[in-house]
Amino acid sequence: MQTANDPGPGPLVPIAPFGPVFARQEISGLDRAEEEKARLAAAVESTDEVVMIICRQGKIEYVNPAFERATGYSREDVMGRSPVVLGSHRHDRSLYIGFLNTVTAGKTWAGRMTNRKKTGELVHFEGTISPVRDRTGRVTCYVSVFQDVTGRMRLESIAEAASTTNSLGYAISGLRHELANPLNSIKLSLGVLEAKLDPSMRACLERIHKEVARMEYLLKSLKNFNRDEALEIRKLELSFFLADFVSLIKYDFPDKGINVALDAAFPASALCDPRALKQVLLNLVANSVDALAGVAGAEILFGLFKVGRTLIVRVADNGCGMAKEQMDNLFKPFNTTKKQGTGLGLVIVKKMITRMGGDVKVSSMRGRGTTVDILLPEA
Ligand SMILES: Nc1ncnc2c1ncn2[C@@H]1O[C@H](COP(=O)(O)OP(=O)(O)OP(=O)(O)O)[C@@H](O)[C@H]1O
Ligand SMILES: [Mg+2]
Repeated sequence: MQTANDPGPGPLVPIAPFGPVFARQEISGLDRAEEEKARLAAAVESTDEVVMIICRQGKIEYVNPAFERATGYSREDVMGRSPVVLGSHRHDRSLYIGFLNTVTAGKTWAGRMTNRKKTGELVHFEGTISPVRDRTGRVTCYVSVFQDVTGRMRLESIAEAASTTNSLGYAISGLRHELANPLNSIKLSLGVLEAKLDPSMRACLERIHKEVARMEYLLKSLKNFNRDEALEIRKLELSFFLADFVSLIKYDFPDKGINVALDAAFPASALCDPRALKQVLLNLVANSVDALAGVAGAEILFGLFKVGRTLIVRVADNGCGMAKEQMDNLFKPFNTTKKQGTGLGLVIVKKMITRMGGDVKVSSMRGRGTTVDILLPEA
């Protein structure tokens, strides 16, 4: 690499894949060692692995063509800049602190990282970041070697969602069957009791009726969950769809002290099932309304964005938000913090959106609010 102390003439010659990448050398006929270095450098240039070299001051010194292909940034775009330029704001500070501590301790960090391309799209990388030492053992720079696993992660998430929902489906069918009959017979017996009981027992009966109704409601939601009707995927103009949806639900909210706004000013068509998308948005709105209980200046904002060929429908609230631990279990069935919740709302959201070829991303901060992004393929 060229440094302020090393301004010597001569072409830039790659000297090793994981050593300082470029050094100025006088070329006087390639000896074997130099030939080897050139071969190694050519390998780094032609590999599909995304290679980036960062100096000790944390600036990018080298990226290979695979990096340019995966991120959309050219070498000139990123040279001398901090890798923060690729930041996606999708990770906790703890991830960065973890890998900084590892590499500054002279060890190799391995893991997955989500970055943002020049176009704004997210890209998921898996690989390592290692310190590179010179002959004296001094760390001269850091090399990161990553693979673009965006496609693989999408497939993994679809497979996971499908397998969770399938096995859950079987369990739910059994449960519904076992519960529906006894519940019916409780209801019938209640009717008989009601006719014969002393009126002073009315309050008690009413409570039992309420609880039975709640169980029936739960069974109904489970039925909805299991209904595997074919989705009718078609081209849907999202800004009109959202305007319609918001104008429909808007009238319920002033009473609850919630302000609703929509920011979807550009035409954009997605491939999706309108009925399922409406169900998804209703589930998200219901969650926001719950989260906004007792919040002053409560707001639900709907938005529409486009990143590359992905359309993002956003539902954001400034409600109670969630702690990180809560977020980890967000899409697990029956995970609820609510007295009356089934904990299936978001599982159903994920299932429907995944079946439409999309994805769901949630970010939240305790006491600040929650943002749910529905990612849909552009038509
Ligand atoms: N917008 C939000 N703000 C704060 N917490 C949320 C939000 N959305 C979801 N949650 C949390 O995630 C949990 C799971 O949500 P989900 O919609 O799956 O189930 P639920 O709302 O509890 O029950 P159900 O939707 O089945 O009636 C909620 O109980 C709540 O703790
Ligand atoms: Mg819910």
